[in-house]
Amino acid sequence: MTDGGTLAIGIDVGGSGIKAAAVDTATGSLASEKLRVVTPAPSTPAAVVASIVRLVKRIESSVGVKGLPIGVDFPSVILDGKTMTAANVDQAWINYPAAAHLQRAIGRPIALLNDADAAGLAEMRFGAGVGKPGVVLVLTLGTGVGSGLFVDGRLVPNTELGHMEIRGRDAERRSAAASRVRRGLSWKAWALDLDEHLQAIDRILWPDLIILGGGVSKRAELFIPRLTCRVPVVPALLRNEAGLIGAAMFAREWAPAPAEATALAEAGGEPGAETDAQPGAGDLAGGRWPGEA
Ligand code: BGC
Repeated sequence: MTDGGTLAIGIDVGGSGIKAAAVDTATGSLASEKLRVVTPAPSTPAAVVASIVRLVKRIESSVGVKGLPIGVDFPSVILDGKTMTAANVDQAWINYPAAAHLQRAIGRPIALLNDADAAGLAEMRFGAGVGKPGVVLVLTLGTGVGSGLFVDGRLVPNTELGHMEIRGRDAERRSAAASRVRRGLSWKAWALDLDEHLQAIDRILWPDLIILGGGVSKRAELFIPRLTCRVPVVPALLRNEAGLIGAAMFAREWAPAPAEATALAEAGGEPGAETDAQPGAGDLAGGRWPGEA
């Protein structure tokens, strides 16, 4: 049994699955088994929150520690604890007070951030982005395409480069990993579509490095050598675990001070208490991302 000193629970909500584990945020390694459940269909807030609550309970009983910080990542723009968009989940998440709902259901504050931002935080700390200065873009290729943009290691939250318009439609409709499967494309044919997206990004951002994540990163040799874009492209190292590791890092580093946490817990379902101490993208844009002074 551990005292939980550097542990946090990370929950990674995706269009097809929800993953959860306790993470040792000092090393980026998992400190419990990794659980995965299918994302409820329809993926309404009530159904997804209920799944998350069950996962938190299972992780807590597997590590034997209660009260660990909880970080949840979600495939949406996150502002002030609200999910603002819903490209690959139920439309009820648009402009939804997700952090407050989760806090009420779990009984303590949770930290909420975009899924690709979470994956990016983990890759920059423990994966392919370690020690990489300049402009680094982490793209997650899954059901959609997520983006985490870093400037000298500092995150610019909520970039949504999957939704750039290419050939008149959302770029992720062609470059997401799911789009290869949906359209029955070969890796070679899909690499051309991905390359076009990367080139469009390069024309705007001129990044120093692009890190490609998501489950497909383990098949990197099938498509990265086919890319022709100027910018160096490397596979992510943390694969499908990057999101939950980054969510846990975010939670651990944003956990409210003990007195504040006690006050929040005592306040129970008070609406003001639910939202005031939520770490959210508003705070993040203010410049105190994990690892910063
Ligand atoms: C969403 C992003 C998300 C990405 C990957 C996109 O459709 O708009 O917020 O990061 O999918 O899940």
